[in-house]
Amino acid sequence: MSKGLFITFEGADGCGKTTQLNLLREYLQNNNFDVLVTREPGAKGLGEKLRDILLNYDGEVSNRCESFLFLADRAQHIDTIVKPAIEKGQIVLCDRHTDSTVAYQGYGRGIDIDQINKLNNIATDGLKPDLTFVFDIDIETSMSRVGAEKDRMESAGNEFFNRVRNGYLQIAKNEPQRVKVIDATKSIDKVFESVLKEFNILAQ
Ligand code: TYD
Repeated sequence: MSKGLFITFEGADGCGKTTQLNLLREYLQNNNFDVLVTREPGAKGLGEKLRDILLNYDGEVSNRCESFLFLADRAQHIDTIVKPAIEKGQIVLCDRHTDSTVAYQGYGRGIDIDQINKLNNIATDGLKPDLTFVFDIDIETSMSRVGAEKDRMESAGNEFFNRVRNGYLQIAKNEPQRVKVIDATKSIDKVFESVLKEFNILAQ
């Protein structure tokens, strides 16, 4: 493979995307693919500091400031981690990316979606995922998986999360080629079957 692949994992909190990302990583490594696992916000270095503010700062954070912090983390992440890995031919599996900002800050917080799309494009320097999974889950299941200890984002309430969920479904409707919705209420094995099926179509 001369150029790598960029695959992103998206969905509401507690949707099980990280479990699926790790299963795909294991499968790919067992089949001798060169894999890099990473995440947003906060893969490493400066990103970890931004992640700490985004998830744990307990003072006021304006919606636009929150958006720019996620976007700043993304620019650093793309430039220093994702792009170099793809250029080396690695398969990059990324836990959350641009669609999280559209779903959470756009649909969830109410920031203009066109503006977010433009800013995302600046943050990624135009790089797009080859494939995106949206793990779809109802809010009750999602919150029961998250449990009682919630971070700043997870404390935003049920209405917010319904908007986020619908946002993800709308993103998938707009870009069906790239974005695949997977029913995340099914068993881990069944969900992984769907993940693998989509990966194999992409890798053909
Ligand atoms: P994290 O602990 O990584 O949650 P998860 O395991 O669900 O991915 O926290 C990331 C939180 O940040 C999550 O609530 C989603 C939110 N988020 C945004 O609101 N906008 C973004 O652009 C990104 C990347 C994440």
